Amino acid sequence: MTLTDMQTPFYRIKEADLLYDIDLLQTALSENWGSNTIMSYSVKTNALPWLLHYLKEKGFYAEVVSEMEYDLVRRLGFPGKHMIYNGPIKDKKTWEAVLLAGGLVNMDSTYELDWIKEISSLYPDRQFSVGLRVNCDIAVMCPQEELAEEDGGRFGYCYENGVLADAIKRLDVLPNVTIAGLHLHSSTKSRSVEVYGTLAAMACRLAKEFSLSLSYVDMGGGYFGGRDDRPGYPQYMQEICRVLSSCFDREKTTLIVEPGVSLISRATTFETEILDVKQIRGITYLVTDGSRVNLNPQVTRHVYPHHIVYKQRICREALPVQWVCGSTCMEYDRLFELTDAPALLPGDRIIYDTAGGYTICLTPLFIHYFPAVYIEKTDGEIFTAREPWGNDEYLQKYHW
Ligand SMILES: Cc1ncc(COP(=O)(O)O)c(C=O)c1O
Repeated sequence: MTLTDMQTPFYRIKEADLLYDIDLLQTALSENWGSNTIMSYSVKTNALPWLLHYLKEKGFYAEVVSEMEYDLVRRLGFPGKHMIYNGPIKDKKTWEAVLLAGGLVNMDSTYELDWIKEISSLYPDRQFSVGLRVNCDIAVMCPQEELAEEDGGRFGYCYENGVLADAIKRLDVLPNVTIAGLHLHSSTKSRSVEVYGTLAAMACRLAKEFSLSLSYVDMGGGYFGGRDDRPGYPQYMQEICRVLSSCFDREKTTLIVEPGVSLISRATTFETEILDVKQIRGITYLVTDGSRVNLNPQVTRHVYPHHIVYKQRICREALPVQWVCGSTCMEYDRLFELTDAPALLPGDRIIYDTAGGYTICLTPLFIHYFPAVYIEKTDGEIFTAREPWGNDEYLQKYHW
């Protein structure tokens, strides 16, 4: 069985490419920071059970941001001490479980300061280590950076207005609580190497200003990956470690990274087929069986990197414009315009590259259900990581 024979649409994860990026990250970390590092995969980016299990076997921790994600990775065999619990919406029981298991908790919210006080007096004989998610003004520090949101980030404790200092003060008075880490994840659109240098410098500045003896610095995710026209792990890690090494000891402070999209982009494609070609008022519409909702459910993207596999090698006329459209019957479900390209025909395949991040998890159950996910193993075997959903799956929790 080859994937050429498989019913489209489906996602394909190529193990060889995944291994390439895992190795790139591992090498970049060890060359720049030695062995005192942790790779933690951002579960929300793509929570495919096969992928989570695979990354666990490769030594990754799980970075989770909900009770549901925590339960998922626990079922898949991640030990509590190999979990990093992040985010502004924490579940108290999960929070306690991760903390008591020796996992990492990066505090983000006001209510967590109450929870830590409570748990520290409940277990006076235990020593608790927590991290703090830092919110700092990237717009001021890196004016050239294109931010994820114009107003800047909304996560973590704000440094500039003193909220971070207050949180540190509240933790300092708890006898059995240590501020073990700082968490500096900050998403930007431009994902520049420079912004990571600036965030690393912020970790140095905060450690000095608040006399923190840190056992870890968590730089989060947000890197580019799998793109030849953008920086990759070697450049990011070199810059982060250059800055961190000026103020932290590699033996004593663990460098943590939480990649998501950068780790799986290169490996994942979404494969679709042309079902129909229609002419309407001088425009050629190519109707395909994959949708924008499978690739960019947030409808924020305008560029869809792709390549085309022609069903038949025949001479084709060049058409000035062909609109590639999706399968949802919504007018907005148009993906991209092909200009001055050979005429496409039913049976030709449009394969979207770098399709793995925030797609499989975010795809809605809209008109068509979840497509299959196949793994192309290094030995050529095809493994079905998810069968396509049908009504057996859809109806399982409904009552009428
Ligand atoms: C705390 C944290 N870590 C890691 C990630 C992964 O980011 P990316 O998929 O851009 O690498 C995110 C994504 O928003 C995040 O919020």
